[in-house]
Amino acid sequence: MRILMVCLGNICRSPIAEGVLKHKANELGLSWQVDSAGTEPYHIGEAPHRFSQKVCLRNGIDISGQRARQFTASDFEKYDIIYAMADDVYREIKRIGGNKANMNRVAYFLNEVMPGSDASVPDPWYGGEDGFTEVFDLINKTCDVIADKYAQHK
Ligand code: 4NP
Repeated sequence: MRILMVCLGNICRSPIAEGVLKHKANELGLSWQVDSAGTEPYHIGEAPHRFSQKVCLRNGIDISGQRARQFTASDFEKYDIIYAMADDVYREIKRIGGNKANMNRVAYFLNEVMPGSDASVPDPWYGGEDGFTEVFDLINKTCDVIADKYAQHK
């Protein structure tokens, strides 16, 4: 499986999802490719937010080596599933993709735990550290479901 997690800045939500799903895939012996990207260019080249790093490390996952990059239309050719962390992100993925946008490959991340809800992972960027802990728990549960769902795909 080749899975891309996408949020706005690629420094808070999607880097956590990348790190957590990679970790679970490794534990299950699945040689998946898991990456993340942001629809906005503001933080290109930056490491994940310090609270994203902190909450992951507290759970045994080191994401300090990840670097933000921007989502591009060519990502539609490089991934089997593109997960949108939020509804604004979903719309931007479609816009950036232009005539390369294959929306059959794009799913709302939280639809894996709340089918059909098209719900958004709250953006912790504007709040304090607690927001990152809540977001981690939500992402962790959802990644459990994803790992289980596609475990037969090596
Ligand atoms: P993320 O959070 O999309 O989860 O990485 C954000 C990070 C930065 C900004 C917005 C959201 N920003 O406006 O710079």
